[in-house]
Amino acid sequence: MTMKRLLITGAAGALGSHCRQHVAHLAETIRVSDRDNLGAAAIHEEVVQADLADGKAVMGLVAGCDGILHFGGQATEGPWSVVRNSNIEGLYNLYEAARHHGCNRIFYASSIHAVGYHPPTENLDDKIDIVPDTLYGVSKAFGEALARFYHAKFGIESACVRIASCQPQPQNHRMLATWLSYDDLVRLVERVFTVPVLGCPTLFGVSANDRRWADNSAADYLGWKPQDNAETHRHRLDKEQGQPDPSLPDFHFIGGPYVTMEIPDDV
Ligand SMILES: NC(=O)c1ccc[n+]([C@@H]2O[C@H](COP(=O)([O-])OP(=O)(O)OC[C@H]3O[C@@H](n4cnc5c(N)ncnc54)[C@H](O)[C@@H]3O)[C@@H](O)[C@H]2O)c1
Repeated sequence: MTMKRLLITGAAGALGSHCRQHVAHLAETIRVSDRDNLGAAAIHEEVVQADLADGKAVMGLVAGCDGILHFGGQATEGPWSVVRNSNIEGLYNLYEAARHHGCNRIFYASSIHAVGYHPPTENLDDKIDIVPDTLYGVSKAFGEALARFYHAKFGIESACVRIASCQPQPQNHRMLATWLSYDDLVRLVERVFTVPVLGCPTLFGVSANDRRWADNSAADYLGWKPQDNAETHRHRLDKEQGQPDPSLPDFHFIGGPYVTMEIPDDV
């Protein structure tokens, strides 16, 4: 069933602006939002500029929406005040607004960095321990807990998607395991907003890569079938970059280079 209005947050960013172009069929109206400039509204769009940290603005932003594709926020490690404002305060504001307005379905862009210290040798499913590799990862784990809380208490359904490396193409050898193609992302968004009962699953946003360690079998009921495989980029990467150094954290932890990042406020 087509939604009346789908909100896309972070719609000026990389994933949000891609989905803005490719998920218009999911709702009669797409409301796009960001704190940055979003350009002019297309015929089927409403443009609302807002900072997620502004609770009053977010309350207005969510009014009238049936679903939220939530990409807005700090998308990498950053100073604590920045991570806190966008990913902790901002996410709380979003879920509170969803509860208030009866908006019952959310795609939450979580991150692999919520569980970044797991080695890629394990079979990693939705039951693994939370072991964030950065403050950013901690904020993503907070978001997953918040999603579960609003589901258990208020029935708001969320997909907590631990996106790994969503890029137009894999950029290094690590991404032969972690790549999520843009097309597979859009396929997943479509399933999240059309499956009759979503619940509150946690899954890895990873394509059908030969080297994937992600086990999403607990979310098979979504009917998401990723179709792209990073391995098709291996020859290009070998040619451009040579063979990678196997001692890099890229190959010892799924969080890769994030495990060695400093606390940003120290540097
Ligand atoms: N791209 C990836 O590979 C990847 C991997 C894991 C998780 N994610 C998550 O997916 C989401 C989108 O990622 P992206 O790569 O498009 O990032 P991005 O940085 O390109 O986009 C994020 C957008 O959020 C907006 N934003 C930040 N703080 C805001 C605030 N306080 N109020 C309103 N808008 C705010 C920014 O202006 C930006 O346009 C992020 O939540 C990120 O953590 C992405």
